[in-house]
Amino acid sequence: MKRKSAKVLMVCVLLVAVLSLFVGWRISDSTGDVTADGTFDPVNIQEEEATHPSQSISTPLATATPEPTPGASPTPPVTAQPTADPTPQASQGGISLGGQREEENGGGEKPISTPRPTAKPTPKPTPKPTARPTPKPAPKPTPKPTTKPTPKPKPTSRPTPKPTPTPDAGPLSPSGKPYSYYDTVKPTYVGGVLIVNKNHALPRSYGGYNSASAAVSALNRLQAGAKNAGFSMPLLSGYRSFDYQDKLYRKYAAEDGVAAANTYSAWPGHSEHQTGLAFDVGSISNNYGSTRAGKWLAAHAHEYGFIIRYPKGKEHITGYQYEPWHVRYLGVDLATKVYKSGLCLEEYLGCH
Ligand code: DAL
Ligand code: ZN
Repeated sequence: MKRKSAKVLMVCVLLVAVLSLFVGWRISDSTGDVTADGTFDPVNIQEEEATHPSQSISTPLATATPEPTPGASPTPPVTAQPTADPTPQASQGGISLGGQREEENGGGEKPISTPRPTAKPTPKPTPKPTARPTPKPAPKPTPKPTTKPTPKPKPTSRPTPKPTPTPDAGPLSPSGKPYSYYDTVKPTYVGGVLIVNKNHALPRSYGGYNSASAAVSALNRLQAGAKNAGFSMPLLSGYRSFDYQDKLYRKYAAEDGVAAANTYSAWPGHSEHQTGLAFDVGSISNNYGSTRAGKWLAAHAHEYGFIIRYPKGKEHITGYQYEPWHVRYLGVDLATKVYKSGLCLEEYLGCH
């Protein structure tokens, strides 16, 4: 019995000793970190954590909440506090170095203390406020650049073009041009030589009979020379006014038709007779050039300053049939040159 009692006593002593050790250890651990001299130094914890970036910045919030450790301290672990202005970083559970640094980091990383293992039974961890998913701020709709729509051009009603009132040009002359044309047309000179034909007209008011003109004087000398040669060279037609030529042409056109009249009669304003420099002499006959008088005229007219104006073979240029009686005054010098050239006046002047 004595032995059994002694064993029980030994067990009790051991139990008491174990309990004493256990209680003593718990008391020292629950008040903080124990320094080398046995005192708690809370600053040391922060410094230690701050020097471990791997712990302080990379632990995601979801894992920051420590799993309940058997025997852990009931002290609630420091957890990420929901910030007033959560950001997407906070929602990722980033841990910052704390304080001002948190603000600088946008609250994305909060300091969190790694719970130290403790002998105390860890109470159920306080449900940590889970980081609320930060509602992503709805992206502000980018205002679309207001491009002002180009105003469509309004269909402009085209004004109906008013027909330009054609001024009444009046009646037409035989040339096809209105008589008014001859009120403004200017005489044509080529190389100082007045040229009148189907293409070049004289104004209606041009000319007039001049008995003292050089052409009339030359005509008188011609007639005197023909007389000396034994030929009568009467003047049949000299100066003609515009209006006279108009009546004459209309008479011929009425008698022979326009096409025939156009071969031997000029339209008003287009006759050399209006210049006062042209004359019909001898005989107005198609065979006059074959007569002795007509041959003398053709051979000697230039000596008095005249040319046969509508020679044979130049009808396509002059526009008129051969007229061996129609002479044009050019002056002795020019008339001689044209005569010797064998050209008609248009050819010689180069205006055909
Ligand atoms: N006989 C000519 C071409 C005239 O009428 O002027
Ligand atoms: Zn004539």
